[in-house]
Order: sequence, then C-alpha cells, then structure tokens
Amino acid sequence: MRLVQYDDQPLGAFIDPEEYARLAGVIAHHHAELVEKRRDGAMLGWFDYPQRIREETLSAVHSVALRIREEADVFVVIGIGGSYLGAHAAIRMLSEGETGPEVVFIGHHLSSWALERLRARLHGKNVFVNVVSKSGTTTEPAVAFRLLKADLEARYGKEGARRRIIATTDPSSGALRAMAERYGYTSFDIPRDVGGRFSVLTPVGLLPMAVAGIDIEAVLSGARAMMTALASPDVETNAAYRYAAARYILYQKGYDVELFAGFSPRFEAFGGWLAQLFAESEGKKGRGIFPVAGQYTTDLHSIGQYVQEGRRRLFETFLWTDEEGAEVVVPPADDDLDGLGYLVGRDVQWINAQAMWGTLIAHRDGGVPVSRIVVSRLTAETFGALVMFFERAVAMSGSLLGINPFDQPGVEAYKANMFALLGKPGHAERGAEIRRKIEALQTRDESDA
Ligand code: PA5
Repeated sequence: MRLVQYDDQPLGAFIDPEEYARLAGVIAHHHAELVEKRRDGAMLGWFDYPQRIREETLSAVHSVALRIREEADVFVVIGIGGSYLGAHAAIRMLSEGETGPEVVFIGHHLSSWALERLRARLHGKNVFVNVVSKSGTTTEPAVAFRLLKADLEARYGKEGARRRIIATTDPSSGALRAMAERYGYTSFDIPRDVGGRFSVLTPVGLLPMAVAGIDIEAVLSGARAMMTALASPDVETNAAYRYAAARYILYQKGYDVELFAGFSPRFEAFGGWLAQLFAESEGKKGRGIFPVAGQYTTDLHSIGQYVQEGRRRLFETFLWTDEEGAEVVVPPADDDLDGLGYLVGRDVQWINAQAMWGTLIAHRDGGVPVSRIVVSRLTAETFGALVMFFERAVAMSGSLLGINPFDQPGVEAYKANMFALLGKPGHAERGAEIRRKIEALQTRDESDA
C-alpha cells in the first residue's frame, strides 16, 4: 500500500489531463537535472540522505537520546526556521509525550516574555539543551543559547553544563562549531549539502524525535519507501511531480495562494513546516505561490467565509488521515435536546470525513481548486514519507518556476537591517541610513497623532 497518496481527482474542473501531458518533457528534464546536480554536490544532499545516513551517526543519535531520556525532565531545542520546524512537526504529530522528557522549543523568536517564562519553568528540573544552527550565527537561537548556557552553568557548574549541551551544526565552520570544540560539547553535523528547511531527516530532526520516543528508523524507512515510489520522472506516476505540476498549472491560471488545510490538530505543526518549505524555497524573483497553513474544521469558522466567497486566487491542499488512532463514538442521551440523536453510535472520525467531503465539494463548487494528500495513518513511517514527498515536490515546483529552490537570499534583508541597528561589528555603516528612514516614519506618526 502507498504511504502517501495524492488525490487530484477534484482538480478535474480546473486542470485538463492534456495540461499535465504538456509538462511531461520539462518535468523529465528537471528531474534529470536534479539527479545530476545531486551528483555534483549541489544543495541536494537531502535528496537521498535517508539512504546514505551513516550507521555511526544513527547509533550516536540513539545513544545520546537514550541518555537524555533517562536523565532529563525537560529537553530544550533551540533553533529557528529549518533548525526547529521539522522536529516540532514530527513531535506534535507523533509523540504522545507519555514517556521521556518534555520537549520544548525556544530560540525561534525574540520574545523576552517567552524566554523568561521558559527559564522560570526550568527551575528545579533536570534540563538538557540541544542548540541547532547550521550557520551558528543566527541571532534568535544565539541569544537563547547564551541565556540558557549561563543558567545551566550557574546551576550545574561548567562541567555539568557541558554534558547537558548538545550542538547540532556545520561540520567545521561557524561560531557554534567553534564553541562545541572549545567546550567539548557532544555534537552532530548538519551535512554541508543539506539546507536548513531540508534537514529534518538529519540529526537536526532525528535527535529531538528520538528524545521524544519517536521511532526514527521507521521515519527513515518511510522516507526511503517514498524515494522508491518517486523514482520515476513520469508525471503520470510520480505523485510528487504530479502535485508540483498541478501547482504550476494553477499558478499559471492566477492561483497564487495555497492553503494547506489539515483535518487534524496533528497536522498543525506540520503545516508550519510546509509553509516554510514552500515559501522560503519558492518566493523569489517576484514569483512563487504563497503558502498558508490552516486547521479544518476549526478555521472553517474563521477564514472559511473568505475561502468560499472571497477573491478567487486561492487553491487548497487538504491533508487527510484515514485513521486518527482513536475511536470516539457519539453516546446516546435521554433527552436528545442537542438534536444529535441522528449521530448516536457514529465515530467522530466518520463525522470528520463527512465534513472533509462536504467542504471539498462546497469549496470546489465555489471556484476553489482542491486536491488531497492522503495517508492511511499518522505514523513515524508516514511522517518520513510525507517529508520526502513534499521535499521532492518543492524541488520540482521551484524548478518549474525557474527559481533556485535551495537558497534563501531574501532572508538576509531583515538581518542586515537588524544587525545595523544593533551595532553588530561590520554592519554599522548602514545603521545611520536605516535610522533616518525610521525617524521619517516616526515623525509622520507624531504629526498624524
Ligand atoms: O531553511 C533555512 O535555511 C533557514 O530556515 C534556516 O534553517 C534558518 O534561517 C536558521 O538558520 P541556522 O540553522 O543557520 O541558524
């Protein structure tokens, strides 16, 4: 049975089969190019990493995770963007949190309130910290790490802190690698040829998953099974390429917003990972589909009105699991005052399925192209398969758009301004110019007031 199924039947009203056929040649060409670039050492290490991960790396992840699971009450993962979203998605989707330490994420914002709250929560707890940063210089995680490192040292002494810190970073360069060497932290490498948002199946995601009790062998085996399923460049049989083709065809027709709608809270954090994967990979040169992650049926009561009747530029990708992993049946009630008698004995997942189909037909009839990504169950294996499916899809989708899906030059703009304002050495020059622009905004604000 296929781990991930792409159901594009509902797109029939929006895409003619001929349109896929017309893209077959260009897709086969981009596929060959991706395979070739992978061989040439471009940022495509993720393409087959689950097959190439070294036994020593896996066993080191297992043994560090075991030590943490035995000793820690709280495991803090510090990272931003690709350095935390994948692990966050996996843990929110799969971990029951019944055994092992609580896993918390920080370093993905600059909220002093959240930092202080976390530090207070850690008092009296046995704490381990995994700081994840490929560059080793990203401000948000660096600030969080400096604070937590100081707290750990104050509490456990330098040696006690050292054995509680695990660094996941570039194999040889960057500030975090230098710190790991200087202080002797346990460390894991982020492969050079794997970019942040493609790194969830490397130690970046695998260590937090293993600490949370997720079967990482199953995650990797699901990804490998998906690699096999996606080996062909044929748009008719390669589901990830068919999905990429559908996105591209819709984009050409003016649909430039994609709403990923998960019909289970277990997809919520996964939606965050997806949004980053697609936005950071595709939003370049004034092109790209803007990804948004939503929760159905929750958001049908908030953004649903817009989806049904707002401006027609949006398409939806439903994320659906056939089984939720729990059976919850509507019980009888003597009075039936709530009028739910007609649902007695029905499983809530069955009700959810009717909501999904009802929504699909309503939105499609309202002019919204809808397709579905379907898994039978949310397991470690399907998580790995989903990751590989979407990574392969975005690689093709970016290639079709004519952009490089593996860089993120635009992320530097805010950083350059922030560094200039912060007075970071080497960035001060721009400071005066940016301050002038800010003053102009503030002067206008004051005169408006
Ligand atoms: O996908 C990416 O490359 C980014 O989202 C990075 O993961 C993010 O900016 C964090 O970078 P770093 O791991 O260098 O701290």
